[in-house]
Amino acid sequence: MEKQLEEIRTEFEHELAQTGSPQELEELKVRYLGRKGVLTSILRQMSSLSAEDRPRIGALSNALKTFIDEQISARCKQIEQTGEGGIDITLPGRVPRQGTVHILNQVLTEIEEIFTQLGFAVASGPEVEDDYHNFEALNIPAHHPARDMQATFYFTDDILLRTHTSPVQIRVMESKGLPVRIIAPGKVYRCDADVSHSPMFHQVEGLWVEEGITFAHLKGVLYEFIHTLFGPDLPLRFRPSFFQFTEPSAEVDMGCIFCKGEGCRVCKQSGWLEILGCGMVDPAVYRYVGIDPETVTGFAFGVGVERVAMLKYGINDIREFFENDLRFLRQFSGR
Ligand code: FA5
Ligand code: MG
Repeated sequence: MEKQLEEIRTEFEHELAQTGSPQELEELKVRYLGRKGVLTSILRQMSSLSAEDRPRIGALSNALKTFIDEQISARCKQIEQTGEGGIDITLPGRVPRQGTVHILNQVLTEIEEIFTQLGFAVASGPEVEDDYHNFEALNIPAHHPARDMQATFYFTDDILLRTHTSPVQIRVMESKGLPVRIIAPGKVYRCDADVSHSPMFHQVEGLWVEEGITFAHLKGVLYEFIHTLFGPDLPLRFRPSFFQFTEPSAEVDMGCIFCKGEGCRVCKQSGWLEILGCGMVDPAVYRYVGIDPETVTGFAFGVGVERVAMLKYGINDIREFFENDLRFLRQFSGR
């Protein structure tokens, strides 16, 4: 009987090497280990063995049984991994999903394109700013209460994360001559968080300084901007406001698209969503950058990019932009 077991083992190894698919392996297993299998019929003969032989042959058969079982599983894995047999090679492959431009960058690009067509150049400035450019030169002196309007992240008394893109106005007027017609997109930071406020968000600053620029130019540019983005039917309002660095100043609200003006959580029940601040550059600012306020006039504005994106795509929570939930982001991948 020992010899028989040895033969079964050799025969099995030979047959195993020839299997090429999971089905063949399954058949092999049945042939050796099944109820009518080769090994099973050997085990049935155990009762005819002598008392001394029985434990030894029993141990040998069990070892062979385990061996066959393990070999079949190993071969099965091998076939799976190498893709031998059983695999339909005409099936299309698994294509890795491609990344897409983040919804905010898409909106930023769209905004840039609109202003570029209106003759604006694109400028930029540092996110880590000094007190002078973020506040002082914008006519917000130290200890002025206006600083409290923008809760600021400070590194030192003098160095901070810019709270708006307005310091780029100063940097551009300092370094480039007149006339100036720029936009400055970028990240800004404030200690601020709820459904429509994020501690990091994006603004696009605009600045046009040239002889003869009036509030009518400001309105014309902003109407063109908003109506290009949202279509001509959107209600808009210029609401008188105050900024240290513009006079007169206004904030522009758009009708809340979520409640159609009825009042909801996003617009804080007002029916309007503020998207930008603007005004005519205050003469005090010209003095900081060495421009004679008697010679030119100009306007400036600062748009909140997330607000624009929320309104354009019906997103009712600003935090969605920054949570990197692919189910959210992929909805905007086709643009
Ligand atoms: C300013 O930041 C001024 N620098 C804008 C300005 C520029 C006025 C040039 C005049 C001339 P304000 O703090 O209102 O203003 O912010 C401008 C816009 O940024 C807001 O209308 C709003 O759309 C957006 N915004 C403000 N805070 C947040 C925030 N925490 N999260 C998201 N968007 C915000
Ligand atoms: Mg405001």
